[in-house]
Amino acid sequence: MRVVLLGAPGAGKGTQAKRLAEKFGMVHLSSGDILRAEKAGGSELGKQLAQYMDAGDLVPDDVVVGVMAKAVSDPKVAGGLLLDGFPRTVPQAEALDEQLKQSAAPLDVVVVIEVPEAVVIERTCGRRSCPNCGAIYHVTFLKPRTPGVCDSCGYRGEFDQRADDRPDVARQRLAAYNELTAPLIVYYDGREALKVLRFDGGKTPDEVTADIVADLQECQTDGTERTRRLVWPSS
Ligand code: AP5
Repeated sequence: MRVVLLGAPGAGKGTQAKRLAEKFGMVHLSSGDILRAEKAGGSELGKQLAQYMDAGDLVPDDVVVGVMAKAVSDPKVAGGLLLDGFPRTVPQAEALDEQLKQSAAPLDVVVVIEVPEAVVIERTCGRRSCPNCGAIYHVTFLKPRTPGVCDSCGYRGEFDQRADDRPDVARQRLAAYNELTAPLIVYYDGREALKVLRFDGGKTPDEVTADIVADLQECQTDGTERTRRLVWPSS
């Protein structure tokens, strides 16, 4: 399956992406993680990225499309792909469509996680992550089972807080989402052979996972049926 995850900052894309990728055997590609790694490396490109990311603005389309095209063309994604944070604008979506068309592997599902704007600041500013494995926590909503110890990898110590998880920057990221990314829902809606599924991201993380898993399992079954009909057409 090839899935795109859409949602405002703090909607829970990263949290759900890790779970869904594991459950469905998809490769999880997070544009935010890829760009942050480039930024942390201190390259010339990384320094340019910092100007946009630290202000809560989107990185220019040509830069992101170049970086993500390389990741999407990796043979490892052939078994299933979960895109988190990309595409984020209509030009990015058009570039992705073109790339997937060339490899005859179009998108199957767009998952939209919806949250009220009021939770965005609380969720992003309370986010912490494990510096060793990247597992995502929240100071109130999703604490590790043992304080200071990562549930996933056992790391002990301080957890990281992202540079852009400050109220002023989170507000700017939300504005960028509303202006440039939310229109993608209309861009994808109504396409034949592409399902756009909306989920209430205001539920608990486990409830959101259960809702998405149930619907993706149904899509997977539909896809298998469709392939069977294509391979063995009924006479
Ligand atoms: P990116 O890293 O993609 O950030 P984002 O879209 O702003 O999304 P977040 O990572 O903030 O939120 P999330 O939805 O993943 O939530 P999470 O699961 O962590 O992008 C960062 C920057 O990179 C952009 O601003 C831009 O500059 C640049 N960039 C990236 N992609 C780009 C592109 N394609 N084009 C241009 N620029 C690009 O959860 C958040 C918190 O809430 C966590 O603490 C979590 O524990 C908690 N939580 C999650 N779910 C729940 C729940 N159901 N209930 C309660 N708490 C929850």
